Amino acid sequence: MVQFKLPKNSKINQGLTFKIKEKVNSLKILKVYRWDPEKNENPRIDEYELDKKKCGPMVLDALIKIKNEIDSTLTFRRSCREGVCGSCAMNIDGINTLACLKPIDEIKGDVKIYPLPHMKVIKDLVPDLTKAYEQLASIKPWLQTNKNNQNSSLDRLKIKKQSPEKREKLDGKWECVLCFCCTTSCPSYWWNSDEYLGPAVLLQASRWVNDSRDEERKSRLREINDSLKLYKCHSIMNCTRSCPKGLNPAKAIADLKKAIVTDL
Ligand code: SF4
Ligand code: SF4
Ligand code: FES
Repeated sequence: MVQFKLPKNSKINQGLTFKIKEKVNSLKILKVYRWDPEKNENPRIDEYELDKKKCGPMVLDALIKIKNEIDSTLTFRRSCREGVCGSCAMNIDGINTLACLKPIDEIKGDVKIYPLPHMKVIKDLVPDLTKAYEQLASIKPWLQTNKNNQNSSLDRLKIKKQSPEKREKLDGKWECVLCFCCTTSCPSYWWNSDEYLGPAVLLQASRWVNDSRDEERKSRLREINDSLKLYKCHSIMNCTRSCPKGLNPAKAIADLKKAIVTDL
């Protein structure tokens, strides 16, 4: 029988509140999702009060300040702090984005922070990306040479030149930082993540399909020409709206579908 109620242990409780002692004019409250797999407890929302004047401008600055000065148990991923590594992706104020690119001042009221939606949570704001990376590996995100290529292996190892025009075809694709903000905002991926590759991986597929140096364009297209892997995209466009790098994975997916029709 179908169960329509959420299990009791998925209910989010009110958690701890960390107040600042002195009175400040630039108070900001962060409400942060917490869950520890080592404690047999429901997830909770902890509240942290911060003085904005004593904190950097971005949401990631606030999280780092909390971890360094208020609550060292708060767990999240980050590395570059400049929108390049893709590791600080989370849901901030209802939108998937990179915490290091999201200014605190853009958020009216309290800052609500959750992990990326519809992914298993490892701890607090850290999602389990194992499946997403397996899907990435499945599209072979590297240059391939054709097995039937008659050139000597030495020739095949030579650096392959690419004209500026052909290189331009990779624009809008190589900039992807694999943050999975798009994939985790895609309703089709929420319900079909076992089979559907999702917008981030399909944008990567398009990056390699369109690389003039790659010798396996057709086999790449054949591989993704699948009702579940590719055609579960119904052009809802949530992916493009949520990309913090301003990329357009929905268009990349549409272009892949077109290439399958014209090239196979
Ligand atoms: S356009 Fe496709 S990939 Fe993007 S959100 Fe919609 S269904 Fe998902
Ligand atoms: S397309 Fe944008 S949102 Fe999707 S993984 Fe790449 S950078 Fe992140
Ligand atoms: S810390 Fe690298 S993208 Fe945010």
